[in-house]
Amino acid sequence: MKKIVIDPITRIEGHLRAEIEVDENNIVKEAYVSGSLFRGIEIILKDRDPRDAGLLAGRICGVCTNSHFRGAVSAVEDAYGLEVPKNAEIIRDLIAMALFIQDHVVHFYHLHSLDFVDVTSALEADPKLATKEAHKYAKQPFRNSHAHYEAVIIKLQTFVNAGRLGPFSNGYWGHKDYRLTPEQNLIMISHYLEALKFQTNISKAVAIFGGKTPHPQTIVVGGVTSVADMLNPQRLNDYLFTIKEAKDFIDRAYLPDMKLIAHAYRGEIKAGLGRANGNFMCAGGYEFEDEQQLFCNGIIYNHEFEKIEDFDESKITEEIDRAWYRVRGEEAEPFYTDLNEDGTLKTAQNEDKYSWIKAPRYSGKTMETGPLARVLISYKRENRLIKSFVDEFLEETDLELIDLSSTIGRNCARAIETGYICEYIFKLVSRLIQNVKYYDTDTWTKYDFETLPKETKGRVFLEVPRGMLSHFVNIKEQKIKNFSVIAPTTWNATPKNFDGKRGAYEEALIGLKIEDTSKPLEVIKVLHSFDPCLACAVHVIDSKGKELGSYKIKSL
Ligand code: NI
Repeated sequence: MKKIVIDPITRIEGHLRAEIEVDENNIVKEAYVSGSLFRGIEIILKDRDPRDAGLLAGRICGVCTNSHFRGAVSAVEDAYGLEVPKNAEIIRDLIAMALFIQDHVVHFYHLHSLDFVDVTSALEADPKLATKEAHKYAKQPFRNSHAHYEAVIIKLQTFVNAGRLGPFSNGYWGHKDYRLTPEQNLIMISHYLEALKFQTNISKAVAIFGGKTPHPQTIVVGGVTSVADMLNPQRLNDYLFTIKEAKDFIDRAYLPDMKLIAHAYRGEIKAGLGRANGNFMCAGGYEFEDEQQLFCNGIIYNHEFEKIEDFDESKITEEIDRAWYRVRGEEAEPFYTDLNEDGTLKTAQNEDKYSWIKAPRYSGKTMETGPLARVLISYKRENRLIKSFVDEFLEETDLELIDLSSTIGRNCARAIETGYICEYIFKLVSRLIQNVKYYDTDTWTKYDFETLPKETKGRVFLEVPRGMLSHFVNIKEQKIKNFSVIAPTTWNATPKNFDGKRGAYEEALIGLKIEDTSKPLEVIKVLHSFDPCLACAVHVIDSKGKELGSYKIKSL
């Protein structure tokens, strides 16, 4: 057995370490995935005014800023039993949906695509052939002219001639796992560069109703403050224009690129590479039509798609046996154990604690959350909007639903989701216009803070770009007594527990063949497909959290 340590995994948010054990054929037999940086925003939240929870919790992460901002405000509203006006709910959704689009596109192109795209190979591409190639996957491919492709090659060549690849340095260029032709690589690099502009533009959509981004600031307990933006038709137009531009890129570049990759890596998809244990979870959410939500809630175990159960928050527990925490008195405190006496880092981790990430479980099981879980569950729940997008994608790529449970499938699900979110946004905007037209301009529910309950608890389960996010707040004497978060990456990157069950990241690595152990591209590709956000994932646990409604913590 040979051990490979990859630390840090780059092109993600935060600090992730992976330790894998391979046999004599370089097949992965065991994996330990670890969040290696301690955070502690919950400590800062203690004793604060509950109305400030959103602005503070938003600082948990520099990427998922709005998700934590909204999550914390909603948890406080739940604690106080405050209803939010319809308009405020829609505006919150418009901010959130623009963030979904931004997050997914940035993830694929800038954090993940170079696991598929060999930058140096693109230099050998024939721009004319690239134009033809792009037409195989899109009716009107994005910026598909010879001149444009020639300009991209010149730009790349300038990097190479200068002896540095800039954003493209440190890749495993020439690795056998790269399957794209020079022309396909060129198309993808062209879109990588275009996505940099896309990223700037879509941020404007988040900021129109969020005030700014990152860290929007217009959500307050009881509603939103963006009332002037809502009433100004120009602001709505600006928002819609940005989304229409985004949709153009998604339809003509992002979705076609996923089809191209699904075609080139077909063997890998059919072999189920990067498949985790098949347990999927979605809390549902976002009002769509009277009887249906954008995402359907549900639980799938072991890829048994026909047996979907309803999501039940009381089945969630959290454990810390193998995470760097210990219970002292009534509190759990950070307890780091990974240093040898001489100060070097331990690597033998058979029974040790090995991560700052806690171990959430649903019915005692490790779960996968994220776009793939949402797509599978909503599809099997006959969600009309999602179903048509999934059917079309599967038909065009000649894939089956089970194939989506793989490294590349996870990316396909993310792209499909981005497509139908654009459609959903158009519905949301027209609903907002309808309301305003009929003189419903409420954006805030008035309340008197002094008369609100002095002691109360609240929680929220929210689907955010990377999966299911939950925030729990415990209020005493009008101050936050405890605050607790389970982020999507906490679920997917969970360490093992006393029973040794692997989380989604770890399970997805098992059985992988590593071509060259000095360049473990295969491992990185699998981990990137989950869109890791480690800054979000690491949270202090509080053994008093038992008081947080039905939320249970099983301590040591
Ligand atoms: Ni994050």
